[in-house]
Amino acid sequence: MNKLFASSIGRKLLVALSGMFLILFLVVHLSINLLLIFDDSGALFNKGAHFMATNPMVGVMEPLLAVGFVVHIMYATIVTIRNYRARPNGYLKNLPSANSSWESRNMFVLGGIILFFLILHLNHFFVKMKFTGDPLLTTVIIDGVAMKNSYLLVSSLFKENFWYSIGYMIWAVFLGFHLVHGFWSAFQTVGLNNEVWIQRLQNVSIIYATIIAAGFCIIPLYFIIFF
Ligand code: HEM
Repeated sequence: MNKLFASSIGRKLLVALSGMFLILFLVVHLSINLLLIFDDSGALFNKGAHFMATNPMVGVMEPLLAVGFVVHIMYATIVTIRNYRARPNGYLKNLPSANSSWESRNMFVLGGIILFFLILHLNHFFVKMKFTGDPLLTTVIIDGVAMKNSYLLVSSLFKENFWYSIGYMIWAVFLGFHLVHGFWSAFQTVGLNNEVWIQRLQNVSIIYATIIAAGFCIIPLYFIIFF
């Protein structure tokens, strides 16, 4: 097993498997976050956030998610460096733009940009909700249950900071480009690589990446337009 993950195919496999896990996480994360725009009283989002904060299953998933991110970033970096070293002249002779997509050639840079925004993002919400607290995180009672007013914290950021909202939308677009290649590429790495399936997966990739990018864009856009 150790030998497999130290080999170049093993490292690629780890990037693919952790990527698939993050693909699932994004679906759950987007679904909860969309509650922000369906109820301006905030009750719906607060209930969703409270469920995520108190459900024991989610508690188990959180450390796994952190491991997923670390493995994905670490092994993607190793794979990229080793590929670069093995091919010091890049793709010069192979006409890169004719043989591969722009996203596939820029996955590492796109990943770096996404990581930069992710660190800012964790600072905006996760760190405050889990560790430091914030004056906006007052306690509210919804359906007789006391919970933190996460809605106030999140919606205030988008209502009061136009440029942060724009930043979140730009982040979502970069994420979309990363996913348009990453999604089908992960399946190819785990073995689904016959021509018919690759074509199908590439179509699903485009649909998935568009939903994720558009979904994460709509949230700040909603607050820019309506508040
Ligand atoms: C409009 C866009 C987004 C909003 C409003 C949003 C909101 C939030 C909130 C409120 C939290 C804290 C949850 C808690 O601690 O209970 C959080 C955590 C987190 N977000 Fe986002 N998020 C957005 C986009 C993204 C994107 C695009 C990614 C990934 C690329 C992402 C990755 C994470 C991660 C890894 C965490 C920490 C794990 C967790 O608690 O779920 N978020 N987000």
